[in-house]
Amino acid sequence: MDDKGQIKKQFKVMIVEDVENVALAIKTIVGKHFECEEVITAKDGQEAWDMLKTGDYDLVISDWNMPRKTGDELLLDMRENDKTMNIPFIMLTARADKDSVITAIQGGSTAYITKPFEKEILIEKIRKLVGHIIPAKDIAGEKSVQTPVIKENEEESDKGNIIKDIVRRFKSGDIDLPVLPNISFKIEKMLRNSKIVLADLAKIIEMDPTITSKLINISNSPYYRGLDKNKTLEKAIIRLGIEETKNYVFVISNRNLFNSEDPMFEEILGKLWEHSLATGGCARIMAARLGLPNPEGFFTMGLLHDIGKLLLIKILMEIARERTDIDRASIDEALDSLHAQFGATLLSSWMFPDEFQQISLYHNELSKADAITKELIVVHFSNLLVRKLGFSMKEDDGTDLTDIESAGLLNLNHETISSISNEVHDHVKEIKNMILR
Ligand SMILES: [Fe+2]
Repeated sequence: MDDKGQIKKQFKVMIVEDVENVALAIKTIVGKHFECEEVITAKDGQEAWDMLKTGDYDLVISDWNMPRKTGDELLLDMRENDKTMNIPFIMLTARADKDSVITAIQGGSTAYITKPFEKEILIEKIRKLVGHIIPAKDIAGEKSVQTPVIKENEEESDKGNIIKDIVRRFKSGDIDLPVLPNISFKIEKMLRNSKIVLADLAKIIEMDPTITSKLINISNSPYYRGLDKNKTLEKAIIRLGIEETKNYVFVISNRNLFNSEDPMFEEILGKLWEHSLATGGCARIMAARLGLPNPEGFFTMGLLHDIGKLLLIKILMEIARERTDIDRASIDEALDSLHAQFGATLLSSWMFPDEFQQISLYHNELSKADAITKELIVVHFSNLLVRKLGFSMKEDDGTDLTDIESAGLLNLNHETISSISNEVHDHVKEIKNMILR
């Protein structure tokens, strides 16, 4: 793909499929609808993997069940290899159960189509995936969650249950995961692939004057402030640190994802944004007080712990165009039961490390986690502390914070908690105003 988002002429596609006539059918569809330099087929995951290691491909469309190496094994190998980690991957399979869909997406699959598939769906998916590497505004944000195409009879049967409706849309592959805003995507990629150079980071951020000026303001807030007032982006980055800069770029560039013309959604999204920022800020402050390494990493985790709610609200906003029974109670119910899993799925598609998915999955249920890490405990506690401070979609239920499991694990008493609360309250208010101004 080129910079303008057009499919480039040298587009190379690999089809991995052990059933010859299916491979041929896919090859014909792709060859007919996209201008490709090459559409190559591999008869199983192993053959595909051997070719991927040496050649350059722009897209992989793969079956799941195959001899030697299965589609999910191939995907896993690809996501762990620098050369292949960013190649869009479409899993095309007869497996349609929810667990398989989730396993595939958690494994890093960018799209999932169930067999037998319709030609139009495959074409549409490929077109949308092209968007994954388009730099730009046109793909970040609302537009990336497309209106799902649903058949009438299916809609009828699920009408009564919004949760079922969401899961069905998700399973049928009609919901596309939002992509990271381009600037965040670039920074993430840079942090992952190479030693970061401050000047290069500044060069990316400078392109956006709003982000630049807000970062400078934040770097002058009491929490970060040095001896004198800082006026340049480079100094702001030095003062904040690279990780923290990345966090704020994410918060600022994502702010527009939290807007809606519908007052009910606007209120929910505003609260969610504030809650995410507050949980991140609180987690960082706590990590610093507890002397844990890399407090900025705690910020990122707090910031993203409820990202599944953002995805679900976007889906619900689409559904609300077709259904009239979406109210606050049904939204809360859907968010409560699905946000952990949806968040993990989204984070995986953004290729965040597994620990982020763990936070999304278990920040409300420590006991269910595979491993109770410090990060998980701190985010668990921060989530509840900021709720007490009013930075939450949920009302405080009156629980004494010293009674909660994470407070016990961190040995927090009343005094420490109240001192942390004061610091978090002031810090969040200030940063929030700077970003919204
Ligand atoms: Fe939360």
